[in-house]
Amino acid sequence: MNYKYESQRVAYPFFIAAMLLFAGQIIFGLIIGAQYIWPDLLFPAIPFNIARMIHINLLVVWLIFGFMGSAYYLLPEECEGEIYSVKLALLQFWLFLIGGATAIVGYLFRWHDGREFLEQPTLIKVAIVIVVLMFIFNMIMTLIKGRKWTSISTVLLIGFLGLAVFYLFAFFKPANMVVDKYYWWFVVHLWVEGVWELIMAALLSFLLLKLTGIDREVAEKWLYVIVGLTFLTGIIGTGHHYYWIGTPAFWQTWGAYFSAFEMLPFAAMVAFSFKMVSKRTRSHPNRAAILWTVGASVLSFIGAGLWGFMHTLPQINYYTHGTQVTASHGHMAFFGAYAVIVLAMASYAVPNLRKLRPTHQKAEILAFWTMCVSMMFITLSLTGAGIVQVYLQRVLGMPYMETQSHMVLFYGLRLIFGATFAIGLGIYLYDFFFPCKGGECRSDA
Ligand code: HEM
Ligand code: HEM
Ligand SMILES: [Fe+2]
Repeated sequence: MNYKYESQRVAYPFFIAAMLLFAGQIIFGLIIGAQYIWPDLLFPAIPFNIARMIHINLLVVWLIFGFMGSAYYLLPEECEGEIYSVKLALLQFWLFLIGGATAIVGYLFRWHDGREFLEQPTLIKVAIVIVVLMFIFNMIMTLIKGRKWTSISTVLLIGFLGLAVFYLFAFFKPANMVVDKYYWWFVVHLWVEGVWELIMAALLSFLLLKLTGIDREVAEKWLYVIVGLTFLTGIIGTGHHYYWIGTPAFWQTWGAYFSAFEMLPFAAMVAFSFKMVSKRTRSHPNRAAILWTVGASVLSFIGAGLWGFMHTLPQINYYTHGTQVTASHGHMAFFGAYAVIVLAMASYAVPNLRKLRPTHQKAEILAFWTMCVSMMFITLSLTGAGIVQVYLQRVLGMPYMETQSHMVLFYGLRLIFGATFAIGLGIYLYDFFFPCKGGECRSDA
């Protein structure tokens, strides 16, 4: 186990930053989870709206660090050449870290700019665009200089280009609230149900190739199917956010039909990973990486495919829109798809970057099960809360705050499973940062 190209090592700081920010995200998750039960907690220093902002912004930032680290690890092996500029990669790393940290600290001092997920002040948004452009330039130059240009590289590149292009809509802030919301979804929906799915599919294909030894042609066929299904369903599927916000009525039909099929690319990823793993020609020693990889396809299918489908038809969304049902889906989908695929890449790449043989993985496998089972229970708690909310508030017409008082049990359960999730993450991070306790893992340089 070893890295093959010197420049792959630049991926390492990206994974480290991702892990630290992930820890921060969960600390703030626990704070807002607790504030749901003790609303005065930490008030006025860290009010709910600010802590929530930090929770979801840290999420997006650590995932993008993870995507970039994964790309820097993957590209040299895919295109058989070094990264075009390691210096540029490091510069881009520090800019992103400083920009991200400034945004988070800024939120604590009330320096923010409105809309959910896009709260970054304009200056920080500009810095983010510059960072992503530096990254994409480095990626394209690496591809041009490399000996090979594979379909995995192409899909990854389209994913990152899309990530950059759709983020530009964050700068567009029309005064009309309908128009504003309309374009807000160009960032949020077209990211997670469009271009990020391509990034995930590319990383999944790379991991399955490395971990199973199956032919590249087989993986590429699956990759094309997944990409095709993503575009076919996800783009017009945006309509599932246009049912009730003042957009034309035809979106109820178009949004319903196309988004109902959005589970297909996720189903294809499940079939893909099980096929590859069952037909593997070698048994790879990194069992944890296989677990995370298959886990990403299964959990994304549950979170995005099943929990997404659950509330995507207008007949149902009419009742569930903006309730805890939405939050239950948001958690399982973001975690199952994007957190887990980044953890899978980290699990595969980091031991190689450290030149360690991944022989003792008990702690990491324990962390996998603790985190995934806890997240399943967080999702189920929120689904329970959502069902109560829909019935009392939307069917019986009980006022919002009165309804909330009947949901406390589920918020308590969410906090308990949040705590077990945090324990799982603690185990994971301990193992990540201190991999060789008692000289257990041998160097294999
Ligand atoms: C990994 C992919 C996905 C992620 C990360 C994700 C995440 C999210 C998040 C965070 C929200 C809440 C946004 C807000 O703040 O209002 C949301 C809303 C929604 N998602 Fe997803 N989603 C994914 C895939 C899907 C799929 C495949 C479907 C349909 C089959 C779907 C259907 C919906 C619907 C209908 C809403 C609106 C809920 C409402 O009306 O309140 N999502 N999603
Ligand atoms: C300790 C575990 C966690 C706790 C206690 C927690 C708690 C919360 C709370 C209280 C909210 C605000 C919900 C609201 O406004 O009604 C929230 C939002 C959110 N969290 Fe978490 N969270 C945790 C872990 C995670 C993880 C691991 C992810 C994804 C990888 C995640 C993704 C999100 C997203 C996407 C939202 C916005 C959801 C929406 O708008 O529907 N959280 N979280
Ligand atoms: Fe969507």
